[in-house]
Formats: sequence, structure tokens, C-alpha cells
Amino acid sequence: MPRIAFIGGTGLYSPKLLDDVREFTEMTKYGEVRGMVGRYLDQEIAFIPRHGAKHSIPPHLINYRANIKALQQMGVDTIIATAAVGSLNFDRKPGEYVLADQFIDFTKMRKSSFFEGGEEGVIHCDMTVPYCPEVRAAIKRAGDEKGLTVHDGGTYVCTEGPRFETAAEIEMFKYMGGHLVGMTSVPEVCLAREVGICYANVCIITNYAAGISPHILNHVEVLEMMKNSVHEVRHLVLESTKYLDTQRKCDCKAILDETGMS
Ligand code: HPA
Repeated sequence: MPRIAFIGGTGLYSPKLLDDVREFTEMTKYGEVRGMVGRYLDQEIAFIPRHGAKHSIPPHLINYRANIKALQQMGVDTIIATAAVGSLNFDRKPGEYVLADQFIDFTKMRKSSFFEGGEEGVIHCDMTVPYCPEVRAAIKRAGDEKGLTVHDGGTYVCTEGPRFETAAEIEMFKYMGGHLVGMTSVPEVCLAREVGICYANVCIITNYAAGISPHILNHVEVLEMMKNSVHEVRHLVLESTKYLDTQRKCDCKAILDETGMS
């Protein structure tokens, strides 16, 4: 059973580097999820391409609940996700990596909780430290060893998409303390926390955000940048699994005491 999962964002649709890869289909009450499971060194790792195998699912239509529920059902306790992002500052440049440590939520119409009354009841999940500090430390260590520029910490502003932002929105996000802008980390990170799964996000800067970039944005630019990084990112994510402790000392699973799932 995989304990660790890798959710691939834009540009990352296959788990190359894993051995003995097999496909899985997991049925959840939110829908069916297809992915792969393989081995890296001595660990089983599950892989889900968030946008589908051919980037056919836009950020606002991803079935985040099914993806996280499927991983929970499979026994996963740690998720490392990747996400293409725009940078709000010139000191974090395209091609560099940032491990988000906070988010600001500007999504609008996503199913963002497992707790909607009914069977699951109503739970207000703590989100003080949304991204697991232990998983982030493991990724940072792997990044440093590979000589990559991995900025540890940054506030991810999650927009609804699928359109890019206006220059005024970016100006506002910057004023509010945002460092990165993307369309997928929320509610993925929140749902993982609701079921006590440690979650970290490797943000890959593909462009300067709207109004900061000297030119207008397009998705091709994002895909081109991702093409250059994809091999390196896969390596970074998988190498960091070597440094994940099986004994978790973080607070990510504290919620399970409240939900009675521990
Ligand atoms: N905005 C939102 N999402 C993104 C961006 C951006 O500039 N770049 C990559 N994903």
C-alpha cells in the first residue's frame, strides 16, 4: 500500500522514474479516480495527474474531493504536489522553486470540504499552518543536495481561473502579502488536512504574474517553462521521499481526534 502520493500539476502527467508502475482505479463517494502506483527505492508511491493524463481538466473543474479521498482510502499519509505558478516579485524568478507555506483563497465555486453536514457532520478544520513543515523540510533538503534554487516559504494566492489575473488583481494580491499566484492549491491542501494527510506543494515559477511580466500571459509560455523543469521536478519530489520520517511529529493529523477517525 502506498504511504506517499505525488500529485502532478501542469506539465506533469506521468510518473517516470518509478519502477514497476501499474495503473489503479479507486472508487470514492465523490467519483472514480485513476492513477498509477510504482516504486521509488524501497517505497510504494501513488501518482495522480491532477489535470488528467492529457491536461483535459481545468483547475476549477478538478474533482479535488475524489482525488484526496481516493488517496486516503489507499492508505496515503503524505502528499507532495506540484503546481505551476506566476511570481509576484522579481526576486523569485521563472525556473525557480518555492515551497508554499501559506495560502490566500480567492477561489469561488469549488467543493472545498468533506464536511457538509449529513453523515460527515460539520467540522471547522484548523488551517494555521496549511503546508506540512516536515514534508517541506524534506523537499528543501533534497533540493539543496541537488543544488536547486528552492525558496522555503511563500504565500500562494489561489484564484478560480481558468483565466489569468488582471494587473489590478495582482497588485492587490501583492499588497495583501501574496508571493505566488496559481489556480490549484486550494482546496487540495485543505482537503488533505481535513483527513489528516501531510501535504506540501512544490511551486514551479513559470512566469512573472500579470502586470509584472513585460508581456501579456499565455498558457503556452507556462507549458514551455514546465517542459524545461519537468525532469528536475520529478527527481526533486521523489528524492525528497528519502527524507520523510515515518513517525510524524507535525500537527497535520490532529484533526483526526476531532473527527474520530484516528
Ligand atoms: N496565474 C495563475 N496561474 C498560473 C500562473 C499565473 O500567472 N502561472 C502559472 N499558473
